[in-house]
Amino acid sequence: MVERQTRAHVEARIRAGILEQGTVDLLVEAGVAARMHAEGLPHDGVNLAVDGHLFRVDLRALTGMGVLVYGQTEITRDLIAAAEARGGAPLFEAENVALNGVETDAPFLTFTRNDQPHRVDCGFIAGCDGQHGVSHAAIPEGGRRTFELAYPFGWLGILADCPPCHEEVIYASHARGFALASMRSRSRSRYYIQVPIAERLEDWPDERLWGEIETRLGPDIGHRVSRAPAIEKSIAALRSRVSEPMRHGRLFLAGDAAHIVPPTGAKGLNLAAADARLLAAAIARYYRTGDTAQLDSYSDTALKRIWNAVRFSWWVTKLMHNFPDASPFERRLQRAELDYIRASRAAQMSLAESYVGLPFR
Ligand code: DHB
Repeated sequence: MVERQTRAHVEARIRAGILEQGTVDLLVEAGVAARMHAEGLPHDGVNLAVDGHLFRVDLRALTGMGVLVYGQTEITRDLIAAAEARGGAPLFEAENVALNGVETDAPFLTFTRNDQPHRVDCGFIAGCDGQHGVSHAAIPEGGRRTFELAYPFGWLGILADCPPCHEEVIYASHARGFALASMRSRSRSRYYIQVPIAERLEDWPDERLWGEIETRLGPDIGHRVSRAPAIEKSIAALRSRVSEPMRHGRLFLAGDAAHIVPPTGAKGLNLAAADARLLAAAIARYYRTGDTAQLDSYSDTALKRIWNAVRFSWWVTKLMHNFPDASPFERRLQRAELDYIRASRAAQMSLAESYVGLPFR
């Protein structure tokens, strides 16, 4: 495993926090679930707030499944510790990483570390280095097709050591824009608000942000928000992007290197985990039997799940946010759809089924 950043950076980076059952199962199978089970918070429901009024979607009653709140940052730490314990610790602080010979049977990585040049000969290369990484760029432009949608707003997120305002996650649609109340533990809260795309972090001192979170969560819940200084505060743009296919020769893309979803559906981490599971099984099968069928079908199989998650993430994003260019007609439709979900078990079932995640196999 070759990583550009320092270990400290990777282990501190704040990322997503909602695990589908399939992701939980994968971490159990991989033998890295002890701390996740000890510290993760099982959630049986998720809440929507519409102009301040809350309603609950009972994931467990509707689907028989829930989700687990456990930070991606914690998973990363657990995975690094497990890799270290079996003698395969990642090589951190690798510079000038380059992929070579991916169209041949003998691909290799080159990079520098502590000013020394390195070469690693590979059977396959798994490109898990995100949307700005070198793997995605190693597929020639003529050999891939990219599908993309940029949303006209971003999310301003805050992480703080204060008790969450509610025991479950809340997605709030409000006249002033979307807000999300989440958590990392019983004493650590994670909140986000929709902001204009060009917003500057300097314009959001903690007190202004806390006030806006309370307003958007509304009268049912806003007054339960506790305030604490930000541990982390950042703005992320929202986009959907899929690059097809996810394979070029002996290079296989997984996670954000191949696809980005807006965070609204909490799918990014879960999609990456599903890719990794599929790819690991395909590579294992090849080395056990010489059979390349699963490697050959990896991209098509993964893309089916991915497009479904792209669809769901796009739908929740459209449902919950204020689009600056929405017509009055579209705003009424959005409100009607939220009213429908509140009133209809079938509509809640559809939301719940996608939120807890489709089966991995
Ligand atoms: C969190 C992030 C999400 O994108 C989401 O939909 C729910 C929760 C989080 O960071 O806790």
